[in-house]
Amino acid sequence: MRGIVLAGGKGTRLYPMTKAISKQLLPIYDKPLIYYPISVLLLAGIREILIISTPEDIDDYECLLGDGSKLGVKFQYGVQEKPRGLAEAFIIGEKFIGTDKVCLVLGDNVFFGQDLTKVLLNAQKQEHGATIFGYPVKDASAFGVVEFDENNNVLSIEEKPKKPKSNFAVPGLYFYDNDVIKIAQNVEPSTRGELEITSVNNAYLERGDLKVALMGRGMAWLDTGTPEGMLKAAEFVEAVQSRQGFYIACLEEIAWRRGFIDNEQLQSIGNGLKMTAYGKYVLSLLDEVRA
Ligand code: TTP
Repeated sequence: MRGIVLAGGKGTRLYPMTKAISKQLLPIYDKPLIYYPISVLLLAGIREILIISTPEDIDDYECLLGDGSKLGVKFQYGVQEKPRGLAEAFIIGEKFIGTDKVCLVLGDNVFFGQDLTKVLLNAQKQEHGATIFGYPVKDASAFGVVEFDENNNVLSIEEKPKKPKSNFAVPGLYFYDNDVIKIAQNVEPSTRGELEITSVNNAYLERGDLKVALMGRGMAWLDTGTPEGMLKAAEFVEAVQSRQGFYIACLEEIAWRRGFIDNEQLQSIGNGLKMTAYGKYVLSLLDEVRA
């Protein structure tokens, strides 16, 4: 399976912070925002990843992440000329996806929780159709809302409905089979001029091929699209990391635990960062093998 991180957009709700810097390069506490969605792909066992951003910003992502070899993965880069919608990711990524399945994660979505890996690996295993996620929220009317039956077959998806048919919002994480390329190519722009991901999901729904996987109450899904959202996400990450001692979205740790890199590679990355708490954490992981 291939992974795509969509990290373009204008980030207008974060102006002036995002006038000169891409939103997903801004920090959430101690690491750039894009580390969080990348961590989701690595947890799903995905090692071939396409980062898509704007023509102005794409070089900065390459500078930050390189070719991925340090993490035992492969990063490629794609450009979205204009923010023409989420579904354009599959048109830009057509060659990259090839004949494979694909997972799309939005560059500003932060997920964390006990069952995350299990939920991701389950979705990843599905050979056919599409899987979206359902996250319980107090007021669903501000989100895309999914209605589903007792077998988790999707019955409807509605964008920001006045009267939501469920209290499950749809986060920016989607798993598709290879048909998504053709489906995205046939999507018509919406009234706001975007290729909507909801149109792609509705195409799967019409075929009876759209499942929802539910995220339980032990899971955090944090929005980082506004200054308040960024601050709350940063406070959450800081609280978990300082209290538990486990880092959220430490890419080096995930790559190492997944066996993408070995002890020596981890040590070398840690040595390069050892002036920071992040680097010290990376190095401390090796105590597990020495114990
Ligand atoms: P949004 O939050 O909808 O848009 P934005 O990031 O431009 O922010 P704002 O609303 O403040 O102007 O985008 C969600 C995510 O998807 C975000 O990570 C940017 C990304 N995105 C793209 O990369 N390309 C697109 O065409 C769109 C619509 C979003």
